Amino acid sequence: MRILIYGAGMRVEPWLADLRAALPTADVAEWTPGAAPADYAIVWAPPQQLIDEQPGLRAIFNLGAGVDPVMKLRLPAGLPVVRMEDAGMAVQMAEYVCHALIRHFRELDGYEHDMRARRWGVRKPRERKDWPVGILGLGVLGQRVARAVASFEFPVRGWSRTPRVMDGVECFAGPDQLDAFLAGTRVLVCLLPLTADTADILNRRTLGRLLPGAYLINIARGAHLVDDDLLALLDSGHMAGATLDVFRTEPLPLDHPFWGDARITLTPHGAARTLREASVTQIVGKLVALERGEPVAGVVDPTRGY
Ligand code: NAP
Ligand code: GLV
Repeated sequence: MRILIYGAGMRVEPWLADLRAALPTADVAEWTPGAAPADYAIVWAPPQQLIDEQPGLRAIFNLGAGVDPVMKLRLPAGLPVVRMEDAGMAVQMAEYVCHALIRHFRELDGYEHDMRARRWGVRKPRERKDWPVGILGLGVLGQRVARAVASFEFPVRGWSRTPRVMDGVECFAGPDQLDAFLAGTRVLVCLLPLTADTADILNRRTLGRLLPGAYLINIARGAHLVDDDLLALLDSGHMAGATLDVFRTEPLPLDHPFWGDARITLTPHGAARTLREASVTQIVGKLVALERGEPVAGVVDPTRGY
């Protein structure tokens, strides 16, 4: 069995070493143009050339939860694309969202500013009931985040494509229930996959339906957000701020207005990192199952795009 690995912007050597250790009888190599035919490819943001040069692939494993960089390519019909499911990312997302939420809700930036100015004074406590948190996407990561947020006793609501039932979470589904979901949300967390249906979903109309003084946490993809619409809603005072981990162009161009905007906290697409050990274990487990002809979870449905 021959396996190729390619990761845009990644150092593949440690991955090669771990995969070779886990699959000692396999021929595991880095993909470079013209590489010999392989049975499987393990990729992050591969070029079209890799797909075109490897017509014999039996499956592609995506080194991340979001498969948008693969699904935008021309893929042979029927080629399974297998995504990463959790593999240590869900708890990182829970940490990230709880940090951003509590930092904003408890006005910790304001306190830091005051204390640096040697100003002593507590602020009026806010009531959790006035701060419902809405999570767009109740999948592997969204559900973990919903549980973590609920443990701090915030009201939690979630929106998915198909109806879901989750203890302690008010669930909404489909385009018909989006407005009702938004209308009762003050802190909006985006954990949707990027598909034709979800691109630009964070826009003037949808963000404008949130409760006044809303706060956005986007940790899914930059193309979910219409940047200028967020800036306009911040300027109008409808939105109080945002924490953004993902951007339309990454790295964020140096002349982008998000840089230096005190209302926006930025991180460099690191809310949940792909962890090598957990990822190799998951990929190897699924690859061995596929070789045995067994079904595996996390296979992308090309009609849904995720
Ligand atoms: P997932 O398990 O596939 O969950 C996706 C959720 O979104 C599901 O609940 C799905 O609904 C919902 N959804 C999809 N399309 C929808 C639509 N048109 N309308 C309403 N709901 C829709 O994905 P995941 O593992 O949680 O990952 C989510 C995303 O996080 C990834 O795609 C990736 O872009 C992003 N991510 C970012 C980072 C980072 O570091 N910033 C790291 C990892 C992942 P159903 O439940 O009905 O299917
Ligand atoms: C990272 O962005 C991922 O999709 O895993």
